[in-house]
Amino acid sequence: MTPATTTPEREAAPKRWAILGAGGISERFAGCLARVDDAQLLAVGSRRPESVAQFATRVGAIKAYGSYDELVDDDDIDIVYVGNDHVDHVPTALLCVERGRHLLVEKPLGVRRDDAERLFTAARDAGTFVMEAMWTRFLPALQAARRVARSGQLGRLVSAEFSFGAVVDPHKSPRIFDPWRAGGALLDRGIYPISMAHMLLGPATQVVHASSRIRDGIDLETTATVRHGEVLVHYRAACDTSVPNTATLIGERARLTIPAVLIRPERFMIRTSDGTEQTHEHPLDGHGFEHEIRAVHEALDNGWLEHPDWKHADTLDTHAVMDEIRRRTGLRFPFEPNEPRGTEQLRAPE
Ligand SMILES: NC(=O)c1ccc[n+]([C@@H]2O[C@H](COP(=O)([O-])OP(=O)(O)OC[C@H]3O[C@@H](n4cnc5c(N)ncnc54)[C@H](OP(=O)(O)O)[C@@H]3O)[C@@H](O)[C@H]2O)c1
Repeated sequence: MTPATTTPEREAAPKRWAILGAGGISERFAGCLARVDDAQLLAVGSRRPESVAQFATRVGAIKAYGSYDELVDDDDIDIVYVGNDHVDHVPTALLCVERGRHLLVEKPLGVRRDDAERLFTAARDAGTFVMEAMWTRFLPALQAARRVARSGQLGRLVSAEFSFGAVVDPHKSPRIFDPWRAGGALLDRGIYPISMAHMLLGPATQVVHASSRIRDGIDLETTATVRHGEVLVHYRAACDTSVPNTATLIGERARLTIPAVLIRPERFMIRTSDGTEQTHEHPLDGHGFEHEIRAVHEALDNGWLEHPDWKHADTLDTHAVMDEIRRRTGLRFPFEPNEPRGTEQLRAPE
């Protein structure tokens, strides 16, 4: 194993990225990389050798590999972005860790908390950086909302609502309707509100209630009520209806609303109990992934194995919530040997 190291010369040079998986999100990620000054897209890798060269040309990559194995052997790479299916994230990431590659892995990092933990342990042992690509964690509007939530300005926080979903076309996104690819609303959409609540309110401490509309092995919609300490949070995620893409934090003195689109907010509103409303503007830079890319560069320059703003433990917390919701709703994918169990992994109330 040859853990990637960062020398002072490499710190000054552009970071050389590789992308594994030539799908929709990888193409969008490549567009964002192109807008970050000190990032360079060196290589792309796909399990489909027949089309990878075309993909490389489209996204402006210098090298194209027709297998993941070939790409991870390229020692010119500083960091790999894993953008393939949910079920492939951990196996692909482990392949990279074995070669000492630093990693940014799409969400959900694993199908279950156990998968994510296995990867984090391997990465720590290998001395490689790894982060789940929960890009919303680094958006200016959400960072500002977090400061407000924690400042006491809203009064004691008592409850919150998060809702995220859309009507997804099964022909355009077949993976979302395929249980063998761990499809469904919770893992694809619900993970955003769950990680956002973690960021704004701290870790979940108890899943109070969960229910899903399950059809053909995937959840079309999942709702859950989860305690984050003393705050009662109501979640809704859907992939066949256009539920509101918004969030509201309700405090005893004021409420904070993040308007649509929840995952790309550029503003939030604070409405106090006397009816006064203030809007706080926080524009995005580009599509939004640019902020997480810069966070990854910061980590590499500092030699961190995890980013302090989205730590391994944070990813594990959100996966424990999803495991527990699935245990309660009976949503188990056909490749899973047993039901996920999140109860014992949730943090005890502080
Ligand atoms: N951060 C975000 O905002 C965001 C948004 C959307 C999705 N995601 C995440 O990104 C991951 C991938 O989602 P996606 O929407 O990009 O899925 P996708 O377009 O279906 O691509 C998934 C993988 O399937 C393979 N693939 C793509 N087109 C194919 C084709 N025509 N025939 C056969 N295989 C094909 C590719 O791997 P190979 O090239 O190796 O075959 C690709 O990496 C998911 O885990 C999802 O949660 C994140």
